[in-house]
Amino acid sequence: MADALRIAVVPGDGIGREVIAQAEAALAAVAATSGRQVFLTGFDWGADRYLATGVTLPDGALSMLQQDFDAILLGAMGDPRVPDNRHAADILLGMRFQLDLYVNYRPVRLFHERLCPLKGVGPADVDLAVFRENTEGLYVMMGGNFKKDTPDEVATEIDLNTRKGVERIVRHAFAYAAARGRTEVVMADKSNVLIHAHDLWQRTFKAVAAEYPGVRARHLYVDNLALQLVRDPGQFQVIVTSNMFGDIVTDLAAGLQGGLGMAASGNIHPGKLSLFEPVHGSSPPLAGKDVANPMGAILTAALMLEHLGWTEEAQRIEDAVRAAVDAGTTTADIGGTHGTRAVGQAVVGHLRA
Ligand code: IPM
Ligand code: MN
Repeated sequence: MADALRIAVVPGDGIGREVIAQAEAALAAVAATSGRQVFLTGFDWGADRYLATGVTLPDGALSMLQQDFDAILLGAMGDPRVPDNRHAADILLGMRFQLDLYVNYRPVRLFHERLCPLKGVGPADVDLAVFRENTEGLYVMMGGNFKKDTPDEVATEIDLNTRKGVERIVRHAFAYAAARGRTEVVMADKSNVLIHAHDLWQRTFKAVAAEYPGVRARHLYVDNLALQLVRDPGQFQVIVTSNMFGDIVTDLAAGLQGGLGMAASGNIHPGKLSLFEPVHGSSPPLAGKDVANPMGAILTAALMLEHLGWTEEAQRIEDAVRAAVDAGTTTADIGGTHGTRAVGQAVVGHLRA
């Protein structure tokens, strides 16, 4: 495993900058206490730069990242001064599509019972992974308008699903389950209505499941999945679903962990440059107030280290976050009275202890 990592850091907009500063501090602390090195290089891509220069993702940025870095750590994109969020689409979705980051990995873990809005649900009941397809589906921005801005306007949005795209995310979910000793994968779709695209999901899921006789394959319609996640999250180990459904389901799942402030994610192409970002957005109303929860970003940094093979360091960051949660050193969204920086410092304190 590499003893030095080169990380491209894109804090982005709003609270992205504040939470990423704390993730950087945690990375520096875990490296310092393990005798390894993490080199962090910042990039100012985001709304300010876009508004000042018209540039979203600079020319050549992606090949530069592929050449010079082991991973990308991103904060959040979104700014009220860019109402169509053009820069966010170019930067975040641009990286997902152009780097072909087909796995959106969103682990869902509850660190303390008091963080979960459900009665009587504790850490043992919320421990699952959602694999969201990340390069196609309803996100391909194909479609169009006819008679726009007239009373007869028509708009379409194409849900693009390819055998290759579905197969690789489904296989990734099974491979993950098999490698981690998980005994079941649930695939969620809406094949009762989307009789073409999600029939493809059905057939692909069955075919791939047959390659993994040691892992149970279960299907749920996505509406039922939403109900089951709230009713009995403990029944789930691994969930695989399409891009848009995964987007929605992982916000619900974040709720089980204590909210968006606690949720981490990786946009991954196995073996290639991958991008890690907290699930939350830029939250303009909270920006600059030292109130945003940095734990999602810090846990995202841990996920990145785990992906890069620094398993022990990843575990130490996670333990440090858990220790801060246990001690009640948290931001207000999960019941504490501390600021973003104080929580980050507390996590660093646990890492150094
Ligand atoms: C997410 C976000 C993005 C998405 C937005 C910002 C485009 O909600 O990462 O979950 O829809 O994928
Ligand atoms: Mn989302």
